Amino acid sequence: MSNDTSSETEAKSASSRDSLKNTFFTAFLLCLVCSVLVSGMAVVLKPIQVENKLLDQKKNILRAAGMLPANSDRAADGRSIDDLFAEFTVKAVDLETGEFVEGIDLDIYDPVKAAQKADLSRALSAEEDIATLRRLEKISLVYLVQGEAGIEKLVLPVRGYGLWGTLYGYLALDSDLTTITGLGFYSHKETPGLGGEVDNVAWKASWSGVKAFTEQRTPGVKLVKQRSPAGSMNADYEVDALSGATFTTRGVENLVNFWTGDLGFGRFIQLQSQEQKQQQNTLAQG
Ligand SMILES: Cc1cc2nc3c(=O)[nH]c(=O)nc-3n(C[C@H](O)[C@H](O)[C@H](O)COP(=O)(O)O)c2cc1C
Repeated sequence: MSNDTSSETEAKSASSRDSLKNTFFTAFLLCLVCSVLVSGMAVVLKPIQVENKLLDQKKNILRAAGMLPANSDRAADGRSIDDLFAEFTVKAVDLETGEFVEGIDLDIYDPVKAAQKADLSRALSAEEDIATLRRLEKISLVYLVQGEAGIEKLVLPVRGYGLWGTLYGYLALDSDLTTITGLGFYSHKETPGLGGEVDNVAWKASWSGVKAFTEQRTPGVKLVKQRSPAGSMNADYEVDALSGATFTTRGVENLVNFWTGDLGFGRFIQLQSQEQKQQQNTLAQG
């Protein structure tokens, strides 16, 4: 009799454990614990993420400027990323006038985010928008290494549409503000092996020495399937197209020419070239 009662009680408690209410409650509790854990981790890891993003940005700027080898986090002389980056000055530039802008908090200003805000950007017409940006920020940033005779290296943030999405990167110019020292992308959605070859170390290295401007000071970079003979004038502006990736290739050519053009950093580069020439004349005379 007592055995019957205890097995009845066990059966009842088992069925109440398996009740719909209990199942929902357990699932809810599990979700709550997991979400608290995930949110907690996200909050704890946020500063590390921000720091890593900043470090990655510095690496990309240094690599474009030819100051950091492709597969190393140290310069040939052993200097660290932070030491190398300390050579750079970051400045805000008004893209329309080409003048420096003071009073911008450079630690938090993000040109890409500014391009999404109506008051900080302007819409580009179809004719203007060769890099498929839709909107252009009024103010962007430049990264400069300055010496006695003016700018020694200039790194520009660039972006433009490939096949699957926008490629974000940096284009670096040498002290003549015409010769490219490097181009690298820190974010893109192109297919590995096809458009994703924008990350190919050898292809990236082939940008070094290419001229960004023609004799008439217009943007003149061309990505070509067949290079012009070495020594010819066209060869100065040419980079190999990416095979099997015509859309990405066109996108890269357009974005480089957009950002070196009048709507991009063209006016700024022009002003700096003039200033640089004056500075060099003064130095030569003195
Ligand atoms: C799965 C898949 C992924 C592709 N990814 C890219 C890409 O990232 N960039 C690109 O320009 N073309 C890409 N293409 C190829 C284009 O669709 C197109 O065929 C190609 O750009 C033609 O280039 P070609 O004239 O150099 O052969 C992809 C095609 C397929 C099927």
